[in-house]
Amino acid sequence: MPYVKVAICGAAGGIGQPLSLLMKTNPLVTELALFDIVNTPGVAADLSHINTPAKVTGYKGNDELAQALAGSYMVIIPAGVPRKPGMTRDDLFNINAGIVKSLAVGIATHCPKALICIISNPVNSTVPIVAEVLKQHNVFDPRKLFGVTTLDIVRANTFISGAKNVSVQGTEVPVIGGHSGVTIVPILSATPSYSEEEVKALTQRIQYGGDEVVKAKDGAGSATLSMAFAGARFANSLLDATVAKKSGVKECTFVKSDVVPGVEYFSSVVEFGPEGVHKIFPIPSLNAYEKTLFDACIPELKTNIQKGIDFVKNA
Ligand code: NAI
Repeated sequence: MPYVKVAICGAAGGIGQPLSLLMKTNPLVTELALFDIVNTPGVAADLSHINTPAKVTGYKGNDELAQALAGSYMVIIPAGVPRKPGMTRDDLFNINAGIVKSLAVGIATHCPKALICIISNPVNSTVPIVAEVLKQHNVFDPRKLFGVTTLDIVRANTFISGAKNVSVQGTEVPVIGGHSGVTIVPILSATPSYSEEEVKALTQRIQYGGDEVVKAKDGAGSATLSMAFAGARFANSLLDATVAKKSGVKECTFVKSDVVPGVEYFSSVVEFGPEGVHKIFPIPSLNAYEKTLFDACIPELKTNIQKGIDFVKNA
């Protein structure tokens, strides 16, 4: 087996800690490098006592970023501030754009061939930010950059199966578009029959499921545990395809895409291959309601993408 170093940037945070725990349990991971600006020595010491193969290393502060990233096969980024009640994901842009940009410079310099999984919000803008930084360093490989939208699929599967009391294990709902509000487009026509009212209510819940958690946490942040689960599912799928060479592994993810003309990044079903993205599937056929969702998604998504591109180009 190859040496597989997975770096997690923001590893001491609400998502970072449980995500690091879950990645420590993947036997394909040889080294787990935990980077944050605070608290990583403690998190690393704690996880290092778990008897799974991954060797855990901790790096704290920007002076140690180079060491954390050097030789990484995969970098997962949940660094940045989460939402508080009343905030949209776009409200996080001003702080998180700069954090993600500086981490992208680190990746371009110290592990330019790494698979990069972006969790930090707003994903619709942070993915283009990372792409632009990598382009500036001439190391952009669109097969290796992913916005993690898996929580939307995880939520959709849970809400859909819960509504009809069917097994959640056999439920897999595609969610396309982007990762915020109206840009989240669940394709519920792919699942068993629901009434029009049910579909509208479920769609609204999937699009704004994050708000339920933000409200319930009452100022203490947004989804962390379910996000860690979703992030690990995504990263494990990617490792299954690229390291274990499994074929036919698919996830919905936000990638550079030409599925929708004029929209540079889009989330749809992607099959992974040895280098990352192998095949991007076209949008499934949409019913009339899904078409209205799609039409609402596109202008907002384009604005979010352009905001990310401009942040790097106009710096
Ligand atoms: P948190 O505040 O608990 O943790 C963030 C961590 O990032 C902190 O430990 C902080 O020290 C660290 N950090 C800040 N600047 C950094 C830097 N320059 N380098 C490395 N680490 C740095 O926040 P939480 O709840 O873990 O959320 C993290 C991000 O994930 C937020 O942007 C949130 O909106 C996003 N998120 C994304 C979801 C998705 O579906 N893609 C779902 C839920 C949250």
